[in-house]
Amino acid sequence: MPGPTTPTVAYQTDRVTLYRGDAAELVGLLPTVDLLVTDPPYGVKWDSGRNDGRFGALLGDDGNLDVPRLLGVLARAHLRNRRHAYVFGYRPDQLAEPMQLGGTTQLVWDKGIIGLGNLEHPWGPAHEHITFGVRAKSLSHRRAGDGRLAARIRTGSVLRHQRPNGGQVNRHPTEKPVPLIAELIESSSRHGELVLDPFAGSGSTLVAAVLTGRRAIGCELDERYVEVARRRITEAERIADMMTAA
Ligand SMILES: C[S@@+](CC[C@H](N)C(=O)[O-])C[C@H]1O[C@@H](n2cnc3c(N)ncnc32)[C@H](O)[C@@H]1O
Repeated sequence: MPGPTTPTVAYQTDRVTLYRGDAAELVGLLPTVDLLVTDPPYGVKWDSGRNDGRFGALLGDDGNLDVPRLLGVLARAHLRNRRHAYVFGYRPDQLAEPMQLGGTTQLVWDKGIIGLGNLEHPWGPAHEHITFGVRAKSLSHRRAGDGRLAARIRTGSVLRHQRPNGGQVNRHPTEKPVPLIAELIESSSRHGELVLDPFAGSGSTLVAAVLTGRRAIGCELDERYVEVARRRITEAERIADMMTAA
């Protein structure tokens, strides 16, 4: 009998598999993936009061989950050698060793809007960091830091995409814009390749993968967000079907 956090399939099509359960228990269940894009819990006890208590606490955000270690286990077991990873909210020096990343770059997501932060400071937070890295099994490749796949023309490390604001934040408290994730996916994978997001939330990575012609695997622990993701992915697949039929 599977435990309450053992990943079980919540949604499956030719393009997408969404698991409901604990990402820590995904190891061994997955095939090899071509790209990892994820926005894990930050361990900052995200404050639900900022959204009128609509969402409650974020699971895994109490600081007890060792995110770099868990991503390291997943990357070593399942991310294809010399391929790319993007991780929101963690620095390259926290991720490089556990995930075997070379050639890291810190990207900045300019959210186009100022968040609350500390209202007594003259600066309000308007950006988040995203670590880019190339997974390389061998130390010499890690030191060289070459990315085998540059799927598009080189561009700057600041990505500008408006974050959902105020009343628009009704699916997930830290929902990422699909065009932002689509930009990461299109930079680092080809059509038909497989993208993994072990902390899927409301499913933004999976939606972006479908809309850019990739396949995707996701996992989410919180039942509420599994349902939201399932609805969004179904809609994205309907749009992708229309695009391929046209
Ligand atoms: C920062 S949010 C991701 C938001 C997502 N990028 C979006 O656009 O909706 C992190 C998610 O990880 C989930 N989570 C926390 N611990 C987890 C675990 N052990 N396994 C799978 N999901 C987990 C949380 O419930 C939360 O929805």
